[in-house]
Amino acid sequence: LNFNLQKERSYILQVLFNGLRRLEYRGYDSAGISIDNSSSSRPLVFRQEGNIESLVKCVYQEVASTDLNLEESFVVHAGIAHTRWATHGVPAPRNSHPQASDSGNEFLVVHNGVITNYEVLKETLVRHGFTFESETDTEVIPKLAKFVFDKANEEEGTQTVTFSQVVLEVMRHLEGAYALIFKSRHYPNELIACKRGSPLLLGVKELAEDNNSGPAFQDAKFLSKDGRPKEFFLSSDPNAIVEHTKKVLVIEDGEVVHLKDGNVSILKFPNDKGRHGGTIARPASVQRALSVLEMEVEQINKGGYEHYMQKEIHEQPESLTTTMRGRLIQGGSCKAKTVLLGGLKDHMKTIRRSRRIVFVGCGTSYNAALASRPILEELSGVPVTMEIASDLVDRQGPIYREDTAVFVSQSGETADTLLALEYALENGALCVGITNTVGSAIARKTHCGVHINAGAEIGVASTKAYTSQIVVMAILALAVGGDTISNQARREAIVDGLYDLPSKVREVLKLDNEMKDLAKQLVAEQSLLVFGRGYNYATALEGALKVKEVSLMHSEGMLAGEMKHGPLALVDENLPIIVIATHDACFSKQQSVIQQLHARRGRLIVLCSKGDAASVCPGDSCRVIEVPQVEDCLQPVVNIVPLQLLAYHLTVLRGHNVDQPRNLAKSVTTQ
Ligand code: G6P
Repeated sequence: LNFNLQKERSYILQVLFNGLRRLEYRGYDSAGISIDNSSSSRPLVFRQEGNIESLVKCVYQEVASTDLNLEESFVVHAGIAHTRWATHGVPAPRNSHPQASDSGNEFLVVHNGVITNYEVLKETLVRHGFTFESETDTEVIPKLAKFVFDKANEEEGTQTVTFSQVVLEVMRHLEGAYALIFKSRHYPNELIACKRGSPLLLGVKELAEDNNSGPAFQDAKFLSKDGRPKEFFLSSDPNAIVEHTKKVLVIEDGEVVHLKDGNVSILKFPNDKGRHGGTIARPASVQRALSVLEMEVEQINKGGYEHYMQKEIHEQPESLTTTMRGRLIQGGSCKAKTVLLGGLKDHMKTIRRSRRIVFVGCGTSYNAALASRPILEELSGVPVTMEIASDLVDRQGPIYREDTAVFVSQSGETADTLLALEYALENGALCVGITNTVGSAIARKTHCGVHINAGAEIGVASTKAYTSQIVVMAILALAVGGDTISNQARREAIVDGLYDLPSKVREVLKLDNEMKDLAKQLVAEQSLLVFGRGYNYATALEGALKVKEVSLMHSEGMLAGEMKHGPLALVDENLPIIVIATHDACFSKQQSVIQQLHARRGRLIVLCSKGDAASVCPGDSCRVIEVPQVEDCLQPVVNIVPLQLLAYHLTVLRGHNVDQPRNLAKSVTTQ
């Protein structure tokens, strides 16, 4: 890029672009940015289809080719930026955010979420003379802001309405889920953010702590009420904030954050809904305490690996250790006797007495719950049922006061899971959250829960969160099962197995080259089947999901018990089939499945326990992947690793983007 901005002059751009790079895993089909132009009151807007680097290129090229003046330092600067995962309207500059109220950029908005009543709002705004240029739901928001602003000033005769009043009024007309940031040429150097449903964090950095900060803020004018210069960051998640500050506020639904002159104020209507007497009501100020992010910048870097997914697969021995830290209790003569889940201790009795435990999740989180179901049933004696979150909501399936509903979600923000949680809360069930994200909506809205502590997961395909979820749910099963004499030996074997699990995963990671070699054999295939049963039905689903989502090869996970009821028709000498046949109570049944597939000349790849190769493989044609054997309920943690590696290598060999698979996003905050 041939653009010669002095480093400090492009500070605002660097901050915004780096923030977008940190959030790119949430959506990456188009991006946009709005910054101030020091020579005009009209904010600059740049929007571009493609990833963040396309936007960066576009901004610097446009600035270089025009006489836009970015050369002046800004005393206070309020900039906004967005990376998009398309819901309404194809990826294109006109559908990218910021969305604008008009060609003069009077109001600009970036949005995470979906506005469900946008069609009604659009009709009304069109009747009032507004014209729309995008197909997005978001465009109604800046236009509504302009409508509210113009109307208020018309009534008063002068501009008396404040930025936060405009936004509070806009919010009362919006339905759906949103986290929004507003910028306006009428309120220079101010930003307003608000949310309902979608996540939003405010980071606060005290500049006195760091002399290398942006230059603009050394100006005395920027001193805030407490006399210390500050820099503020608003973001959908902590990844974009942590490199600047660890001090954050988790913004609550219905709150409005107003940044002005180096100060922050948080406002909320006393009555969140409804308009009083036709005038714009005065909101009340809210006092909130900052919390400290428990994450390090290193966690969100690639740390020497080519891709985040690769890094996250290989760091599983460490992430599993962190997940278990403080939760396995050593006791007496035994190596370990019991487990501790601090977040559930006040509710354990209720969970044990539940009529039923219902697991609810989506994608990989659902699969992790499925892998954990048998051990929870075995140790607790409580019936455990499975629900895909969207399906539970679609069916309005029965949930009772006597149920314990366990919501499993890496991000803690998945819209489908959140809706299912709200539904279960309405029906009076005890709601337990299992998430990787402290302060997430699911963590906050459930009655109690467990954090899996796997560390930030950036690769869109979930890997280390999956194994940590299974471990947390095995510990949950031990906790719910309690210290009964009848299951003491089983319990101790599982706890011992948990202690050894990181080293077993380290061992299985040594299969990396072998899985790369297998990937080379399979690289040109159209399709792959994965058969599992018992504890490893989930491994079959999850292994196939990994292959499908990143390598874009069609792949299906199937219950081996169902093979002869349909899938057997697909078997021939060409279609590769992975059969999971590690040693457990289902082993002999899997041996028979392998025999039946072999008899139909199936092209077999068998994943088995070390030392079992000869007994599981019917002939030379079968390829074997040998893994260390662990306690049966923990075997899914070991077994998924070679399949994660296979998916990774297939993707690289097929030339696809490992960390940003086509059309997918890490955290799906829309329905
Ligand atoms: C998306 C992601 C999946 C993830 C699922 C559930 O579809 O692409 O990788 O498993 O959401 O996400 P959650 O954050 O609730 O675990």
